[in-house]
Parts: sequence; structure tokens; C-alpha cells
Amino acid sequence: MKKDKLLKLVKKHRTPLFIIDHDIIRENYRRFKKALPGVQAYYAIKANSEPEIIKTLFNEGASFDVASYNEFIEVYNLIDKWREKKKEFFIWDKIIFSNTIKDRETLKKINKYKPLVTYDNMDELKKIKENCKKAGLILRLKVPDIGSQVEMASKFGAEPRDASNLIKKAFDLGLKVEGLSFHVGSQCTNFENYVSALSITSKIFNESRKKGYELDIIDIGGGFPVLYDGNVPRFEKLAEILNQEFKRLFPEDTQIIAEPGRFFVATTAVLVSEIIGKARRNGKIFYHINDGVYHTFSGVVYDHWIPNFHSFKKGKRQICAVVGQTCDSFDKISLAEHLPQNLQIGDYLYTENIGAYSTASSTKFNGFEGAKILHINN
Ligand SMILES: Cc1ncc(COP(=O)(O)O)c(C=O)c1O
Repeated sequence: MKKDKLLKLVKKHRTPLFIIDHDIIRENYRRFKKALPGVQAYYAIKANSEPEIIKTLFNEGASFDVASYNEFIEVYNLIDKWREKKKEFFIWDKIIFSNTIKDRETLKKINKYKPLVTYDNMDELKKIKENCKKAGLILRLKVPDIGSQVEMASKFGAEPRDASNLIKKAFDLGLKVEGLSFHVGSQCTNFENYVSALSITSKIFNESRKKGYELDIIDIGGGFPVLYDGNVPRFEKLAEILNQEFKRLFPEDTQIIAEPGRFFVATTAVLVSEIIGKARRNGKIFYHINDGVYHTFSGVVYDHWIPNFHSFKKGKRQICAVVGQTCDSFDKISLAEHLPQNLQIGDYLYTENIGAYSTASSTKFNGFEGAKILHINN
């Protein structure tokens, strides 16, 4: 977005201001579908669960990936309101519950919707049998996540060697396994992770079918990388590899789905913050701004995100620190930003590509409300 447009919006709405451009959401969705036409996208709403985003993506034809009962019911109620013909509503076509561990209460509550849920261990399977036997199951596999910005394999996924037993056990319990899933780690720039994951998954998928277990779905998770900087390989290159591998490894009737989060929303938002204090500490300029790691920059902590800062004013640049508004010394957003040294209290900074894992994990720590969220082009 052009700087003068940002400044106009800030004049009207004040700071911190988090602006989400829905034209870019649509662009990202269409780019995904163009490159992977055979893949149904279930937007992982944990990346940014603003109802307006869910609506824009729903209107584009997206489905949704949820992680908790609250997310499930929020998406369910929203899409229930928007869909035209009630009887044509198949919950699996629109929602997957992709958190492999669910508490018993949640399972009991979602049972009536006949949901599609993931699992990765025997205890979860027994829990699903006891509390949510109408569910369709997706077995999540542990796959390599080497080099990804956020790892997954250390917490989620069944060991591939345990998969056939976990599938057999589910059917023995009278449950139905619909397919397999994996997640190669978020912001995955090492495409070999996807290749290995598909190879592992296809072996289990094809062997299960041979044994008479009619699996249908392959869920390739999220991880699709965003061009935060020039070192990120292009998504279209990954899509080319994926399309080749789908064709080579899976029967034609396999339904392939994905759970993109970051890819749909990261580039859609820009944050404008304001300098509220300036101090020289150990020789370095510290710009104190009215946002921080407990708020819109929470991704610096939880998402291992590397922030970016740009100023509206020109001036001789030097390495500065940009820190948050709270009284916690941990609230340092960046200790090395190349910014003009002449910025003053009341000047603005802007941060691009901050749409994913930012406001979603913002808190109200120290009594600060967090950025105002503004939707444009929706
Ligand atoms: C199960 C699952 N699916 C999808 C996603 C979205 O991943 P990404 O934002 O990398 O696309 C996540 C992110 O944590 C996840 O845990």
C-alpha cells in the first residue's frame, strides 16, 4: 500500500492500526488454486481468525481448518449463515478439526456434526471412540520439518511405522479412517520436506488400500512459504513439484486437501505504529512504539517471525532498537533495525507482511488493547 494512503488512514483511525486488504486475500487464494487446481484449501484460521477474512475466503470457495471448539463453532455458525441450501451442507467439505489432541468435552460437543478430525495415537483413538464416534478420522503422520520456521514434528504426528496398526485399530473399534495428513512445519522453504512427506504418506495410503481399508483423503497440511525476503523459493516451484508427486504416487481418485494459514493472510496486512518514546541506551537509539511482542508483534515470540520496520521520514540511518510499550524488558521487538536516527516522538513506522500469527496471538498485557483492525476492499 502506498505511504500516503497509509498516512490518510492513520489520520482517521489513529495508531496502532492493522490494515487488512481483502484484494490481497483473494489474490493469494486464487494464486494457490491456480498452482494447485486439484487441491481443496482448508484455511487454517489460527493464522488470523477475523470473521471478515473467513467470509472473503468462504466466498472464494475455501474450506476451513480449526483447532478448538470455539474455532469450530465460529466457522460453523458463520458458514451456516452464508450457505444457500441447507441440505447441501456437508461438514467435511467445509471444516477439518486438525488438532490431534482434543479434550473429551470438545469431542462430545462436536459429535453431532459428524466432524472430520485428526488423531496420531492410540489414546486419542479410544477417546474419540468413547466421545465422538460419528467422526471421520484422519491419521496425522510425523514427517521431516527440516529448516522450517516453526517445527511440528517434535509435538505432532504418529511414527510412520505405527501407522498401519493405528489404522487397523480404528477400524477394529468401528471407526472409519478417511485419510492421512502431515505438516512439514510452517514457512517451509525446504521443499524436500514435502517430497519426503508425500513418499512416506503414499506408501501407507497404498498399502492400506491393498489391505481393504478404503482411505480417500490426503491432507498435505500447511507450511506454504511466504516471500518475506528474497531468499524464499517461489510457491509455484513447490506447486509444480507437488503436482508431479501427486500424479506419480497416488491413485487418481484420491482427494487432496491442504491447510494453508500463513500463505493466505501474511502479505495482506500492514501495521502502522507510532513512536511514543526515544532514548539512547548504551549508545544505541531505542525507539519505543505503541505496540509490542505482547500485542501485534507476538509472532516474534511464537512464530519466530523476523519483523521489518520502515519509516515515513527520510534521514541518515543507523542501527536502532525498536521496543514495545509494556514495562517488561522482554518486550523488545528488534535490536537491529536500520532506521533514520532523526525520528521523533509522534512519528510513525510501518511493518509489512504482518497478517499471520500476529493479532491472532495478541494479549491485553499491561492493559494495552492492541491495534485497531481495519478491513479494506472487503
Ligand atoms: C495442523 C495445522 N494445519 C495448518 C497450519 C497452518 O500452517 P501454515 O500457516 O504454515 O500454513 C498449522 C499451523 O500451526 C497447523 O498446526
